[in-house]
Amino acid sequence: MVKFALLALVFPALASSVVGLNILLGNDDSWASANIRATFDGLTKRGHNVVLVAPLVQNSGQGGRVILPTVNVTAPGGEFGSVPVGAPFFGHDAGNDHIWYFNGTPAATTFFGLDVIVPQVLGNETIDLVVNGPNEGANLGPFLYTLSGTMGATYAAVYKGVPGVAFSAGNSTHRSFTTNTGLADDPANIAANLTANFVDALANTTKEGERILPLGVGINVNYPLFGPGNPCTAPPFILTRFTGGALVDKLSLNDTTGLPQSTNIQSPGVNTAFNGVKFLPGETPVAAQCQTSVSFFGVDYDAPSGVAEPSQQKLNVLFGHSIIPS
Ligand SMILES: *[C@@H]1O[C@H](CO)[C@@H](O)[C@H](O)[C@H]1NC(C)=O
Ligand SMILES: *[C@@H]1O[C@H](CO)[C@@H](O)[C@H](O)[C@H]1NC(C)=O
Ligand SMILES: *[C@@H]1O[C@H](CO)[C@@H](O)[C@H](O)[C@H]1NC(C)=O
Ligand SMILES: *[C@@H]1O[C@H](CO)[C@@H](O)[C@H](O)[C@H]1NC(C)=O
Ligand SMILES: *[C@@H]1O[C@H](CO)[C@@H](O)[C@H](O)[C@H]1NC(C)=O
Ligand SMILES: *[C@@H]1O[C@H](CO)[C@@H](O)[C@H](O)[C@H]1NC(C)=O
Repeated sequence: MVKFALLALVFPALASSVVGLNILLGNDDSWASANIRATFDGLTKRGHNVVLVAPLVQNSGQGGRVILPTVNVTAPGGEFGSVPVGAPFFGHDAGNDHIWYFNGTPAATTFFGLDVIVPQVLGNETIDLVVNGPNEGANLGPFLYTLSGTMGATYAAVYKGVPGVAFSAGNSTHRSFTTNTGLADDPANIAANLTANFVDALANTTKEGERILPLGVGINVNYPLFGPGNPCTAPPFILTRFTGGALVDKLSLNDTTGLPQSTNIQSPGVNTAFNGVKFLPGETPVAAQCQTSVSFFGVDYDAPSGVAEPSQQKLNVLFGHSIIPS
């Protein structure tokens, strides 16, 4: 936690809430992506102490896989030519010791950031919030939750007891931070500003010493599609749930090529709603309009007892006794 003792004395009204958070910022699109660098700048300008630690190369679709480097950087080097072949498997920007790459999967990068890099950069200060993204492309519904590296990097933090928020943006263009136009309508800058607003809303309402989110809880935020010339510039935040219109792959064989191909379908399993606030809209339809979906998730994967109990009773013969007191 960054301490502003003097400021608090002068402005007692601020003393009750956190002024600047210690934030670990990651993603799955690489440390050199436009979205993550714009967000690093946006959060830093708002007074947060941000340590960016993100994968060396594009790592989309890795989910929660933990793969650690065993050698230094191999060909073709860092994403967008950001790091030469042969460089160490982790390192920081020559001009900024708060901007790091690590040559592992997104979840591994969260662990390496929290366990190895943050202690080097922040000493004994701890991370208040892990922010991931904004991802290049939406991550909507439970299917993408498990599949996405941005989500994996986020639930990795939640597993360790650190509050985590995943941000994803509808615009899926994979681009280097060096292509940022610097204009307000650059999609990376729109996403960065919205992300800073979101983080500030959490920071402003969290008291010094209080957790930002309860243990085991994270947030999934999905921005709609925006960019230059697009009328969607200020999408409102809408409280949503993962299920409701959520999609999963349907595979078939292509008549011409003979190869498998996928389309998205709504399926009952992925849309089962036994947790959370049931009347909230699903995030998939909400983010399809010019709206930002905000879904809270928990990493307690046990099925609710009322749902699982009849099936658990069926296995009493295996367990040797009735596990559920009746
Ligand atoms: C990686 O690079 C560092 C620094 O250049 C060097 O000291 C180390 O021996 C290298 N490690 C491997 C496994 O090649
Ligand atoms: C953190 O480190 C600083 C400087 O090294 C030290 O003064 C302080 O007591 C430490 N705080 C805790 C909680 O360990
Ligand atoms: C950033 O968000 C704030 C708060 O909604 C808004 O007032 C401001 O215009 C936005 N800035 C840009 C550059 O979009
Ligand atoms: C957070 O607090 C700061 C300082 O009072 C204020 O400028 C900012 O608008 C607030 N942001 C949000 C999203 O509440
Ligand atoms: C997505 O972002 C790219 C890069 O900034 C931009 O060229 C493109 O117009 C955006 N797409 C849409 C649909 O806004
Ligand atoms: C089969 O694959 C071809 C080549 O990728 C594609 O153009 C075509 O649309 C596919 N057919 C169907 C029915 O999806």
